[in-house]
Amino acid sequence: MGMLDGRTALVTGGSRGIGRAIALRLAAEGALVAVHYGGNEAAARQTLALIEEAGGQGFLVRARFGESDAVGRLFDGLTEGLAGRGLDILINNAGMSSGSSVDTLGLEELANLLTVNVVTPFFVIQRALPLLNDGGRIINMGSTASRFAVTTQIGYTITKAAIEAMAPSLANELGRRGITVNTVAPGAVRTDMTAGYTAIPEVVAALESITALGRLGEPEDVADVVGFLAGPHGRWVTGQTVDVSGGTYLGPLG
Ligand SMILES: NC(=O)c1ccc[n+]([C@@H]2O[C@H](COP(=O)([O-])OP(=O)(O)OC[C@H]3O[C@@H](n4cnc5c(N)ncnc54)[C@H](OP(=O)(O)O)[C@@H]3O)[C@@H](O)[C@H]2O)c1
Repeated sequence: MGMLDGRTALVTGGSRGIGRAIALRLAAEGALVAVHYGGNEAAARQTLALIEEAGGQGFLVRARFGESDAVGRLFDGLTEGLAGRGLDILINNAGMSSGSSVDTLGLEELANLLTVNVVTPFFVIQRALPLLNDGGRIINMGSTASRFAVTTQIGYTITKAAIEAMAPSLANELGRRGITVNTVAPGAVRTDMTAGYTAIPEVVAALESITALGRLGEPEDVADVVGFLAGPHGRWVTGQTVDVSGGTYLGPLG
C-alpha cells in the first residue's frame, strides 16, 4: 500500500526535470497523477510511460502558460482526467529562468517571467480551490535564488520571491479545511534549466564549494521532500519555505 493510494495530484511542468521526478514519486506512492506540460509532448509522454512502467497511473494535460486561457485549458484537461474526482495535491512546479541582469532585463522578458512563474500559478491555485478536497496539499516551487544575490538572474529572483510570499497567507486562509500550503526552495539542481552552467566544471566546483553537502542537487532530492510534504507525514507543516539545497550558502565552510 502506498501512502497516497486513492489520492489525486496535479504536477505542473511534470514533463521534465524536477517536475518529472515529483510526478514519479507521487505516482509510486499510489496517487493518480495529472502530468502537465507546456509544449514538450515527447517528454511528457516519457514521464507517463515511466509512471505506468512502475505500475502507477497518470494522464497528460497540455497548457502553455502565457497563451490565452492557459488555465482554462489546463482545468478542462484536469477535470476530464479526474472524471468526477476531486484534487488532493497541487504541485505548482512549472517555471522558466532568465539570464538577464538589471541593465538588460526588458519589460517583455520580465512580464513573461511573471506570467509563467507567478501569475499563472496563482490562478491555477484559484481555479483549483473548488476542486481541492479538505486535507489537501498545495506546494509551490520556489528557489534559494530568493534568499541570496544572483545578479544575472534578477528577474527570476523576483518571481521566486513572489511565489514564496503566497504560502503564509494561503495557509492561513485554507487551514480550516486542513489544506497545507508550502514552498519548496531548491538550490542548483541538474536539469535542462541549469544545463548551461552545470556543464562548466568551474561553475560546478564553485557551487559545490558553497554547499555544505558538497554536491549539486538531483531532481529526486527535491521530489523526496515534496513527497513528504504531500503525504500524511507532512500534515503539521504549513505556510513554510523548506530549503532543499544541501545547505547552500549557509556561511563559511570550515
Ligand atoms: N533546476 C534548478 O536548479 C532549480 C532550482 C530552484 C528552483 N527550480 C524551479 O523548479 C521548477 C522546475 O525546474 P526544472 O529545473 O525542472 O526546469 P526544466 O527542466 O526546465 O523543466 C521546466 C518544466 O516547466 C514547464 N514549463 C516551462 N515553461 C512553461 C510554460 N510557459 N508553460 C507551461 N509549462 C512550462 C516545462 O514544460 P515543457 O517540457 O512542455 O517545456 C517543463 O515541464 C521551476 O519552477 C524552477 O524555477 C529549479
